[in-house]
Amino acid sequence: MKLITAFALSAPVSAMLRFSCSTLVTDRIDPLVNPGEAPSPHLHQLVGGNALNTTMDPSNELPDISTCTSCQFTEDFSNYWTAVLFFRARNGTFKRVPTFANEYLEPANGGITVYYIAPYDGKTKVKAFQKGFRMIVGDPIRRTDMQDHDARGLSFRCWGENFTNSVGAPGTNQDTRYFPKQPCKGGIRANHFFPTCWDGKNLDSPDHKSHVAYPKNGSFESGGPCPESHPIKIPQILYEVAWDTRQFNDPNEWPEDGSQPFVFSTGDHTGYGTHGDYVFGWKGDALQRAMDQNCQVNCPTLKMQSTQSANKCTVEKKVEENIDGWLTELPGGMPITYL
Ligand SMILES: *[C@@H]1O[C@H](CO)[C@@H](O)[C@H](O)[C@H]1NC(C)=O
Ligand SMILES: *[C@@H]1O[C@H](CO)[C@@H](O)[C@H](O)[C@H]1NC(C)=O
Ligand SMILES: *[C@@H]1O[C@H](CO)[C@@H](O)[C@H](O)[C@H]1NC(C)=O
Ligand SMILES: *[C@@H]1O[C@H](CO)[C@@H](O)[C@H](O)[C@H]1NC(C)=O
Repeated sequence: MKLITAFALSAPVSAMLRFSCSTLVTDRIDPLVNPGEAPSPHLHQLVGGNALNTTMDPSNELPDISTCTSCQFTEDFSNYWTAVLFFRARNGTFKRVPTFANEYLEPANGGITVYYIAPYDGKTKVKAFQKGFRMIVGDPIRRTDMQDHDARGLSFRCWGENFTNSVGAPGTNQDTRYFPKQPCKGGIRANHFFPTCWDGKNLDSPDHKSHVAYPKNGSFESGGPCPESHPIKIPQILYEVAWDTRQFNDPNEWPEDGSQPFVFSTGDHTGYGTHGDYVFGWKGDALQRAMDQNCQVNCPTLKMQSTQSANKCTVEKKVEENIDGWLTELPGGMPITYL
């Protein structure tokens, strides 16, 4: 497979898995924040193993109760999800923005590009997540730049045609923490870096965040140390979502006041409320092996399927509602809030 990593890597090479997970379902469920609720308040796009459910008990053996995964690595039955992007036309109606295959990846049924990254020194060991582990990055109700770690991990890339302007790691280049203000000829990539330090005890926490933390100083990539409270280095997870905004680039359809027209399913018109949810579900020690063997894209220790095969793994929607076509309101009637 032709692949140049999106990162400028210099030797020594350390682990960086990068793979595609096709859309499993786009549904108004939120197994972490609103377990058991169908509908949950806002719409998500969810990818990964097909044991996805409105409630995901931490004791579930996801590799045993899944029969397929929409991710390219077939031992990965984790679930990954984000909010959904909508275009708001001048007449006030909404149209769902599709996702498309990311740069260098085989054509997939949209979805999320997932990374598991180790520090770039090639020496620092990371401990793979345990069964039942879950976490969230970002906050759907944010509407301002909080200047904290979460905020620094969340950004948008305004792509030129055919992925021009793809140089530099997410969060660098001209990436913004808010939605690009101008039409992006090649679509918009949303980037979500998760925390990289774990308390070593709790698989989850009430806010789904406080059991994990960011490095005390320096960056994860450069080997920055974890705080004493969260001493265990875990792989850095990154979600990239390639939003195909190309059909919505006509300035005549953008708001007359010059503002940008995109809004998340959370009612977020700023982009600051972008967020990602993670439920670990790799089989056995597959993820640990891949990290220990400094796996990149081709990882002999892992089994891989084509995206055509991954596309076939889908689950039924729990909530029957129209999410396509021109909608008079966001799913669930979610109001647009600027705060
Ligand atoms: C989802 O959960 C419901 C209720 O607990 C259960 O009946 C159903 O079998 C589950 N579905 C899957 C795919 O695990
Ligand atoms: C609203 O605007 C969109 C985009 O221009 C158009 O396709 C749609 O038909 C319009 N809907 C109504 C009800 O006018
Ligand atoms: C993008 O790709 C298309 C199809 O290969 C090509 O016609 C077009 O010139 C390319 N545009 C740029 C800016 O490279
Ligand atoms: C973090 O701080 C320690 C001690 O203050 C220092 O030795 C180390 O170089 C710093 N690491 C980074 C990556 O900045």
